[in-house]
Order: sequence, then C-alpha cells, then structure tokens
Amino acid sequence: MPDQMRAITLARRPNGDPVSEDFAFVEAAVPVPEEGEIVVACSHLSLDPYMRGRMDDVKSYAPSVEIGGIMTGQGVGRVIASRAEGFSEGDLVTGMTGWASHARLPGKEARALDDRLPPSTALGVLGMPGFTAWVGLQEFAAMQAGETLAVAAATGPVGSMVGQLARAAGLRSIGIAGGAEKTRLLTETFGFDAALDHRSFDDARGLRAALADAAPDGIDIYWENVGGTVLEATLPLMNTHGRIVVCGTIAWYGGVDLSGPDKLPGLWRAVLVKRLSINGMIVFDHWHRFREFTETIGPKVAAGEIAYLEDIAHGLDAMPEAFIGMLKGANTGKQIVAL
Ligand SMILES: NC(=O)c1ccc[n+]([C@@H]2O[C@H](COP(=O)([O-])OP(=O)(O)OC[C@H]3O[C@@H](n4cnc5c(N)ncnc54)[C@H](OP(=O)(O)O)[C@@H]3O)[C@@H](O)[C@H]2O)c1
Repeated sequence: MPDQMRAITLARRPNGDPVSEDFAFVEAAVPVPEEGEIVVACSHLSLDPYMRGRMDDVKSYAPSVEIGGIMTGQGVGRVIASRAEGFSEGDLVTGMTGWASHARLPGKEARALDDRLPPSTALGVLGMPGFTAWVGLQEFAAMQAGETLAVAAATGPVGSMVGQLARAAGLRSIGIAGGAEKTRLLTETFGFDAALDHRSFDDARGLRAALADAAPDGIDIYWENVGGTVLEATLPLMNTHGRIVVCGTIAWYGGVDLSGPDKLPGLWRAVLVKRLSINGMIVFDHWHRFREFTETIGPKVAAGEIAYLEDIAHGLDAMPEAFIGMLKGANTGKQIVAL
C-alpha cells in the first residue's frame, strides 16, 4: 500500500465561474479501513456539472462542500484494503471517492463493477448521467412514436443518451450543441435527426427560427439541460400538452438573477396556454431503478448499440482546469480524469 495520497479541496467559494484558485491540492496519509470499510485506489474520477452547485453555500437538494473539504464526486478504482464483507483486494468498484487518488468508503456505499466493461463507463453512459436520461424519460416524458424531442448539451452523457433513447422509441430527435464539430457528432455518432449549433446564433430568436425549421411539427418534449438562450428559443415552439423535463440549467450555474420581470410572465403564460407539464427531476429520487437500467442498457452498450463519447484528462493536476472547461463546453462527451 502507498503511504501518501493526494486530493483536491475547495479553497474558497467561487464568485461566478470557478477559477483554479478556488481549489487547493493537499497530501495526506492513505487511510486505513475500519470495520465494514474498504480503501480504493482510484483509476478514474468523474467531473459533473452538479459539482458547481456544491461549491456554493446555498440551500439546495444536497449539502455544500465545506471550505477545506475534499471536492465531492464519484470515482472508480481497485480495492487495496478491505474490512467489508463481499469486497476483496483487487476488486473493481465505484463510489463517492471525491476528487482524490485514494478513498475510504463504507462497503455498503460501494458498488462492484463488471470487469469486462471499461471502468470509465460506470461514470458516464452506464453511470449516473446515463441513468438520469433513461429514468427521466421513463418517468416524465411519456414519449410517443412520431413525436419530436429537443435536447441541448446533446453530445454530453445525459443529452446523447436522451437523444438515442428518443430515436429508438420512434421520435424525431433534435440535438443542440456548441460548435461545428459537436454538431457533426450529433448526427454522425449519435444519430440525431437534426443538429443545431447554439453558438452560431446571435440570440434566441435566430436559434428559434432554425429550431422551427428542424421541428416542422413543433416540439412535444423538451429535455432541459441548459436553460438560458436554448430555453428561450424552445419554449414558444412547444406543442399543446408538451412535456418539459427539467434536468439541469448549466447556462445559469455561474449565477443569474432569476427574479427579472421580463421573462417570467411569458414563460408562465406559455405553461397555461400550451397546458405544458413541467417536471423537475433529480436522479437520486430514482436509485431504486438503477439495477433495471444497467440490466437494460448495459448489454446495449456492450453490443455497441448505444454510442458514447468520453473526454479524458490525465492526472489529478489537470482536474480543476478540466472542470472549469466542462462548464463552458470545452469537453466533448463525458468528462473523466484518469489517474
Ligand atoms: N437532475 C439531475 O439529477 C441531473 C443528473 C445529471 C446531470 N444533470 C444535468 O444535466 C446537464 C447535462 O449534464 P452532463 O453531465 O451530460 O454534462 P455535459 O453535457 O458533459 O457538460 C456540460 C455541457 O453543457 C453545455 N453548456 C455549457 N454552457 C452552456 C450554455 N450557456 N448554453 C448551452 N449549453 C451549455 C456544454 O456543451 P455544448 O458545448 O454542447 O454547449 C457543456 O459541454 C447539466 O445541466 C447537469 O447539471 C442533472
């Protein structure tokens, strides 16, 4: 067992978009497991948009990271010491390791992984983001063949799964992403019926006109990953009895005044006039269906029937910059850090 481990802590709370000075690197002794615990040497760490919210000191659906605390997050790695029933040295596992080279976890909070699949898939396509897409569509979207669905951040692990599942269910799928390369990937890799580059329009009006062309029958389901301009563009195109699954609002994670008087009345009126159903969803309300997800989607990923992209940064030192970049769209596919 190595003596020392490294981790990244929250040095201070960000003011708007995070910067590298908001993080600090620390060293500590590799922990020793207590009864019921395992110690994991991480091989892959996940970077996810929700981590931005945990850096703020505001009441939300999950607690904030304390100043000086290790940044929260999921990792994958091998067990290097075990005092937990069912786990042995060398087992491949995943759990909430934090941004760290090593982690001590209660055995009951770790999940053994199938060694035959690439370990990183447990963080993306077959992990929390892929599951979010799968369960959110099942619970809230009421997809019907022939309908039209739109989703942004569509090359990411949530959006790309939403698009592929919608298409498999017989819907017309419209993907929105940032930049020409990502837009190409939307149709070529993920099979979207139409792809739009949200960064190529000056304002919501331009994006809305392009979306209207791509969705000649209107939009029945809007999977909300981003908020901002994409939401403004999409809302007026919703069909009567349309469904909106509110999964994320990354365009506003740097801070926004949500109380502005100009947008809210129009938005609220659209909900009434179109009789829209809007459901906020948080993945952890649905963990009881996670096994069903892996049993359904795992074989499809293994068979190459579901496409996924991963963007791998290397080394703990690269982690803050990879995170800062992901929030602005620098990642193409699920952002992972390999150690
Ligand atoms: N509710 C839940 O339980 C839950 C669970 C998982 C994820 N989520 C949410 O789902 C969303 C997608 O997550 P993910 O893990 O799949 O992330 P992701 O797509 O890998 O990364 C975020 C992407 O957001 C896009 N983006 C950033 N700023 C934007 C803006 N102003 N306008 C439009 N797009 C912008 C960028 O893509 P482009 O370059 O293509 O614009 C960026 O690559 C996030 O909002 C996340 O918080 C929610």
